[in-house]
Amino acid sequence: MPYRLTVLGTGYLGATHAACMADLGFEVLGLDVDESKIARLRAGELPMYEPGLEEVLRRNLESGRLRFTTSYEEAAAFGDVHFVCVGTPQKKGENAADVSYLDAVVESLAPYLTRECLVVGKSTVPVGTAQRLADKLVRLAPAGPLVELAWNPEFLREGFAVQDTLHPDRIVLGVASEKAEKIMRDIYTPLGDVPTIVTDYPTSELVKSAANAFLATKISFINAMAEVCETSHADVKQLSLALSYDERIGGRFLNPGLGFGGGCLPKDIRAFMARAGELGADQALTFLREVDAINMRRRARMVDLARELVGGSFRGCTVGVLGAAFKPNSDDIRDSPALDVAVKIGEQGGQVTVYDPVALDNARKAHPELAYGTSALDAARGAHVVLLLTEWQEFIDLDPEELGSVVATRRIVDGRNALDAEAWRAVGWNYRALGRP
Ligand code: UDX
Repeated sequence: MPYRLTVLGTGYLGATHAACMADLGFEVLGLDVDESKIARLRAGELPMYEPGLEEVLRRNLESGRLRFTTSYEEAAAFGDVHFVCVGTPQKKGENAADVSYLDAVVESLAPYLTRECLVVGKSTVPVGTAQRLADKLVRLAPAGPLVELAWNPEFLREGFAVQDTLHPDRIVLGVASEKAEKIMRDIYTPLGDVPTIVTDYPTSELVKSAANAFLATKISFINAMAEVCETSHADVKQLSLALSYDERIGGRFLNPGLGFGGGCLPKDIRAFMARAGELGADQALTFLREVDAINMRRRARMVDLARELVGGSFRGCTVGVLGAAFKPNSDDIRDSPALDVAVKIGEQGGQVTVYDPVALDNARKAHPELAYGTSALDAARGAHVVLLLTEWQEFIDLDPEELGSVVATRRIVDGRNALDAEAWRAVGWNYRALGRP
C-alpha cells in the first residue's frame, strides 16, 4: 500500500476509521491526546460498545498494521494522509458547534509537517470551516502549500459503524486539486464501486449537515403525525406503514416514538441553524427549530402519558425503565431520550429503576441519582408502570406473562412502538404507545 495513514482523534469515528483502514491493508497510526484511551486501544480494548469493531481492532493490532500514539511529532513523520476525526460537540449554552478540537489538531500537527501530505477532515462542521483550516495549515506548516486539505464527511451510524465504513452508500470528497482527488480515490479503491461525489469544500461540508437535517425532519414528521393521531384516536403505526409503501417516501426513519437523540442528530441540526444564522440564511432553516421542538415534545408527552396511567402523580410510584442508550446496539447515552425521561420522572417523585443491556455504566456515571437494575425483570420488579424507551431486541423478546409476574400493576408504555400490542393486552396488560389509541 503506497500511503501511510494517520487517524487523529480515536473516539467513535476515529477508532472505527483507524481499525477499518488497517483492515483494508493500510499501515495506520491512530493518535489521541487521551493517554488512557490510547492505552486501552493498544491493549485491543474499545473505549465504547460497537458490535464487531473489537475483532477488527485486535486483528489489525496483531498484524502490526495498526498502532497508536499520543505524539503529533510521530504522526507527522509517519503519515502521508492524516484523517482528522475529532468531535464537534454543541457549545455550552449555545446552539453552535464547538470546533475547538479541530483547531487544536491542526495547530498541534501543522508545526511538524515538513513534507508534502494531505490532511483529510471527516468531522461534521459548520460550512466554511474547511477553507479556514486549509488556510491555517498552509500558514502553520513548514512545508507550506505542500500541505493540502480535503473534506470527506462520514455518515456512519453507531451500532453499524464497521459495516457503514467498509460498505458506505456514497463517498463525498471536497477537494481543492486533482492531486487530492486522486489520493482520496486511491485510498478508497479497496471499498469497490461506491458512488463518489467530487466537489468543493462547502458542498462537502453541507452534504453532511443536510443529510442529518433530512433524517431528523423525517423522524419529527412522523412524530408530528403521532401528535395528530393522539388527538384524533388514529394509529400512527398503521399510518407510517401505509406511507412506507410509497417509494417516494420510504419506510426507513419513519418509526414513530420517543424521537431522536445521540451525539449527532440533535446537535447537528442546532449547529446547522446557528451557522445559517451567521450566514444570513436563517429563514431557510427555521423549520429545523420546529423539528427540534417536536422531538423534545415527545419526551414530555412520554412523561405525561406515564403519569396519567399511574393516576396523575408519580409520588409513591415505582417505575421500571427499559433502556438507557439513545438507541439499541449502542452504549452511547449522549442526549438519550430514554435517560431524559427517566430523570424527569425521578424529579417528579417517581422511584425509577433503569435497565439497559450495555449502557448501564455510562448511565450510572451521568445519573447516579437513579436506581439501576441487573435485568429487565429486575428493573420492572414491583413497578406500577413499565416504560420501554430503547428498543433493544431483548426487550422486544420479553415474555409479557413473565414480566407481568414481577410488576405491581400490568401497565406498559411502549415508547418505541416496538412491541406486539395484542400479545401484551391478551395477558392483561394495559398497553399504551405514543401516537396510538
Ligand atoms: C446518525 C446518522 O444516521 C448518521 O448518518 C450520522 O453520521 C450520525 O448521526 P446515529 O446517531 O448513530 O447516526 O443514529 P441513527 O441510527 O441515525 O438514529 C438517531 C436517532 O433517531 C436515535 O435516537 C433513534 O432512536 C432515532 N430514530 C431513528 C427514530 O426515533 N425513529 C426512526 O425511525 C429512526
